[in-house]
Amino acid sequence: MIKEKILVIGACGQIGVELTLELRRIYGGSQVVASDLREENELLKGTGPYVSLDVMNKEMLHVQVIRQNVTQIYLLAAILSATGEKNPNLAWSLNMQSLLNVLEIARDEQVKKVYWPSSIAVFGPTSPRVLCPQHTIIEPITVYGISKYAGEFWCNYYHHRYGLDVRSLRYPGLISYKSEPGGGTTDYAVEIFYDALSENRYDCFLKEDTFLPMMYMPDAIRATVELMEAEEKNITVRTSYNIAAMSFSPSEIGAEIKKHLPGFEITYQPDYRQTIAESWPQSIDDRIARNDWHWKPAYDLAGMTVDMLKYMKPAIEARNRKNGKVH
Ligand code: NAD
Ligand code: SER
Repeated sequence: MIKEKILVIGACGQIGVELTLELRRIYGGSQVVASDLREENELLKGTGPYVSLDVMNKEMLHVQVIRQNVTQIYLLAAILSATGEKNPNLAWSLNMQSLLNVLEIARDEQVKKVYWPSSIAVFGPTSPRVLCPQHTIIEPITVYGISKYAGEFWCNYYHHRYGLDVRSLRYPGLISYKSEPGGGTTDYAVEIFYDALSENRYDCFLKEDTFLPMMYMPDAIRATVELMEAEEKNITVRTSYNIAAMSFSPSEIGAEIKKHLPGFEITYQPDYRQTIAESWPQSIDDRIARNDWHWKPAYDLAGMTVDMLKYMKPAIEARNRKNGKVH
């Protein structure tokens, strides 16, 4: 049996660090090559090979795929919703060209599987707000959402036209403590924990009653691995699967944190990200993922909050020690 050799592109980002560690646990450290534009993340050091790689440089990417005998590619490099609105051309260029480069090389080099994440950002103000279905009206208003929607159809195209086994999930907002988020509208749900633990207060950039679909990172990593390990015959969606875990507002997560940190206070100063958040559904219907490959989340708001506070505290103390704030 041929051993899998996996290339993770964008491995030093919020998802990349944890996904790379999990793939290395499953397939072995040396079988998973981490790559990014950035310096290698501290948590990845010593766990497996790392290469500096710009996914926009197609030749460089091609050389790595051949040199490393890559059998699977996970493409995580992207510009997210909030940063994308600051530089729409750059967001379109990176989000689209990176995917086309990967799909082309995967097809030419007979890479067996490709993973590329989409997002709830494909949906727009005309999509159903509550329990948004897999197949519905999709009219995104952000450049990020447009790039994700177009990307979904490129994945679908490469599957149907060339038989490439490309799989995708529409992640909700992801909450994690190991690596920081990289410029999304849902980032408030991570920032709130940092500020709660260091200042016991948080000034939120969304309104108190803005409900959004969210997921704790361990669920997102497990969903990714389960999708990629599912039997090919069970994969009926070749654009991107809806997946869901929880839906809450800033006021609800604030109240949940207050149960553990009684003095915690949250204030609201909505900015341009409010418009983005209001264009997305409040919750997602993920029945097709549940049926096709038995997706089921493990964490709700209460469980995620307990975990985040438990693991973030030492992480913040370590960061403060590093910055010389605590002696
Ligand atoms: P992130 O911004 O934290 O990480 C992206 C990584 O890509 C960074 O480490 C960055 O240095 C790297 N990168 C950027 N340009 C590159 C280039 N030219 N070549 C190589 N690497 C490059 O993003 P993330 O949150 O980890 O998201 C990963 C994927 O998941 C993206 O496609 C994103 O749209 C999608 N997604 C994320 C969320 C979320 O809440 N985090 C939700 C939905 C979808
Ligand atoms: N978390 C992402 C964002 O806010 C959703 O794709 O951009």
